[in-house]
Amino acid sequence: MNQDWWKEAVVYQVYWRSFKDSNGDGMGDLQGVIEKLDYIASLGVDVIWLNPCYTSPDIDNGYDIADYYTIMEKAGTMSDLEQLIGAAHDRGLKLILDLVVNHTSDQHAWFKDARSSKSSEKADWYIWQDGVKGTPPNNWRSYFAPSPWTWDETREQYYFHSFASEQPDLNWENRDVRQAIYTMMRWWTDKGIDGFRMDVINLIKKRATFDDVENPLDLSYLGNQPGVHDFLQEMHQEVLAGTDLFTVGEIPFVGPEDGLLYVGEDRNELRTLFHFEVADDMETMDLPRFKQIQKQWYEALYPHGVASQFLNNHDHTRQVTRFGSERYRIESAKLLGLMLHTLPGIPYIYQGEEIGMTGIRFSDPDAYQDVAFRNQYAERIAAGESPGTVLSSMQMRARDNSRTPMQWNANKAAGFTESNYPWMTVNPNYLDINVEAAEQDQNSVLVFYRTLIALRKTHPVMVYGVYRDLAIQDPYLYVYERELDGVTWRIILNLHDEAVTTTLSLPKEQLVLSNYETGDTVQLARYEARLYQY
Ligand code: NOJ
Repeated sequence: MNQDWWKEAVVYQVYWRSFKDSNGDGMGDLQGVIEKLDYIASLGVDVIWLNPCYTSPDIDNGYDIADYYTIMEKAGTMSDLEQLIGAAHDRGLKLILDLVVNHTSDQHAWFKDARSSKSSEKADWYIWQDGVKGTPPNNWRSYFAPSPWTWDETREQYYFHSFASEQPDLNWENRDVRQAIYTMMRWWTDKGIDGFRMDVINLIKKRATFDDVENPLDLSYLGNQPGVHDFLQEMHQEVLAGTDLFTVGEIPFVGPEDGLLYVGEDRNELRTLFHFEVADDMETMDLPRFKQIQKQWYEALYPHGVASQFLNNHDHTRQVTRFGSERYRIESAKLLGLMLHTLPGIPYIYQGEEIGMTGIRFSDPDAYQDVAFRNQYAERIAAGESPGTVLSSMQMRARDNSRTPMQWNANKAAGFTESNYPWMTVNPNYLDINVEAAEQDQNSVLVFYRTLIALRKTHPVMVYGVYRDLAIQDPYLYVYERELDGVTWRIILNLHDEAVTTTLSLPKEQLVLSNYETGDTVQLARYEARLYQY
């Protein structure tokens, strides 16, 4: 595999509204991110991915953009963002922004124009269908609403939205739309950003016809349609070719073979992608399936393309809660971190993961702010389900689980804000789980993460090594090797919450890192993780 800086990178995701509040209004902001840049740099990461901070009515926490060229008041100003870019660069950090161009807000000037009349200048910039009010054009569902079609009284037509009705989908078939997007992207790269995380970028191409589908609940008809690669290659040609920009596409509904079409080095589309085979396929850790996913993606992609590794983000509950154990929090957080950094692919750390933050579960449905939660909850209640059943079935996967404020210290509101009213409840466990406490403890998850990230910088085997699964049938142990130029790393992980025996361990002298004191026995304690070199 060719060597490239971005393959060696570790990315840190900053969900700014929950990161650090600098002005006491209860919501994080760009100045807050600037305040904490030294902390981010101290982790050793290379790239910051900043969630959307463009002007937005904030129906979907910034993923409903009303103006791509200005900054949301809650986040700060353009000058704050410019300052952030500069301050990040001063510390050797790159900054990538979210690019949300499958849809805009319904408050975007383009949509306002489009909905004003069938003959307006931008009438065709979104997706419209004739129909009879009350009878949507097909039986599809949207992510956040019962139907992806909303009736517009002025045009007397339906418009299409893959997400909430306030997020109309752009019509990428229209050349002017595409050019407007490329112009905007170039404007941002001219400003000095280092790339884009592309929101649901494989949804931009729609099905050729809007016929009914057999199973509307399987939303895969929304994405990955033939022709999507033409758009991405055009975008590459127009914006990315010849640059060093980092691009990661959010690509739902895609398996390894199709995945390679997005990131293959000869394809001229994206550098890397997030697939959702882990995030969408399993409620908790399903180790056999997880191993199969890793193996299949590795075999399909390497050495021609690189995937991304993430176990949580602002949409998916925290990894300790979901794939590890809150009871054995420190052990399992370290195990997951070790796995994340040693599997093939670019590791993404979601703020707070590095201190082992856990996911919250609210017992009051009104505490959830997320549009996806609120819409789905309301729909199910309206359909007659009992509130208790609906809440308990949604609690574990609710997106707000991972959106609680970053826990900086044991002071009021975890040091996130001076306000008595943080925009989202702080997880009460901040008294124990916070950055300040972790800094003072040599055995903390934070110190372990720093070690892992530093190892990646000095051991190319973590990036370029061949991947081999040694115990694919084992239900509890995940044992794999990475090998490069005669150096072999063996990773042994016990994902069970009881001790397990293995014949595959190596002598203690070959141990590079472990989350327990032991390391040369055939017994692995619960959530024990070892990394050997030989
Ligand atoms: C994926 C983003 O991560 C999520 O937060 C958002 O709601 C949808 N795309 C729609 O933009």
